[in-house]
Amino acid sequence: MDPKRLVAEKAVSYIENGMIVGLGTGSTANEAIREIGKRVAGGLRIKAVASSLKSEDLAKTSGIPIVPLSGITQIDIYIDGADEVNHDHYLIKGGGASLLREKILAYNSKKFLVIVDESKLVDQLGRFPLPVEVTPFAANLTLKHLIALGCSAGIRQKDQQHYVTDNGNLIADCSFGKITEPSILHNKIKSIPGVVETGIFDNSMVTSIIVGYSNGTIKELTKNS
Ligand code: 5RP
Repeated sequence: MDPKRLVAEKAVSYIENGMIVGLGTGSTANEAIREIGKRVAGGLRIKAVASSLKSEDLAKTSGIPIVPLSGITQIDIYIDGADEVNHDHYLIKGGGASLLREKILAYNSKKFLVIVDESKLVDQLGRFPLPVEVTPFAANLTLKHLIALGCSAGIRQKDQQHYVTDNGNLIADCSFGKITEPSILHNKIKSIPGVVETGIFDNSMVTSIIVGYSNGTIKELTKNS
């Protein structure tokens, strides 16, 4: 079976009646959303909040009851993919441009289960260009300050236009090569006016990483395992 499906099924098996569930964004998170939809059809009673408009649409077509974030105070479990995961369980996220809402869900969740296939495991973050959400106002100036931190960077494009996030912002994709100290880099980037959020997710938000391998096995990694 597809490793993405395997890890999605494993993560969804932790969902119980009455939970508020955070829904991620991306192809792996979509597997989880479809699986949750099947369990809801089978009688599971939950409410969900989505990290993107795309995931909200998929959830609704899968029969999952969606509530606005303004209507809840905490999320019980958040299930989402990642673009990179290092040994210390720091993540790069935002390949799907949803990093701001994703980070808000991760930060407000009792448990954050990261679901990935083995291709996402890296020794050091940075091969995947780091997505940084920036305000459209003065985006070029913000980009100049990002580049001054030692990366090559550009504003993400779609159909020859700037890609606009669900929050009306832009994404600067920043290639740093190797990110040896993710927290320090995150703080430096966040101190630039015009930066809304970075795609570096601190390991303090992560409960476990569920990894799927092409041989059909999965492993659940916690920081001490
Ligand atoms: C979206 C994300 C996704 O979790 C990340 O891009 C992984 O996606 P996929 O499961 O399709 O590889 O951060 O903003």
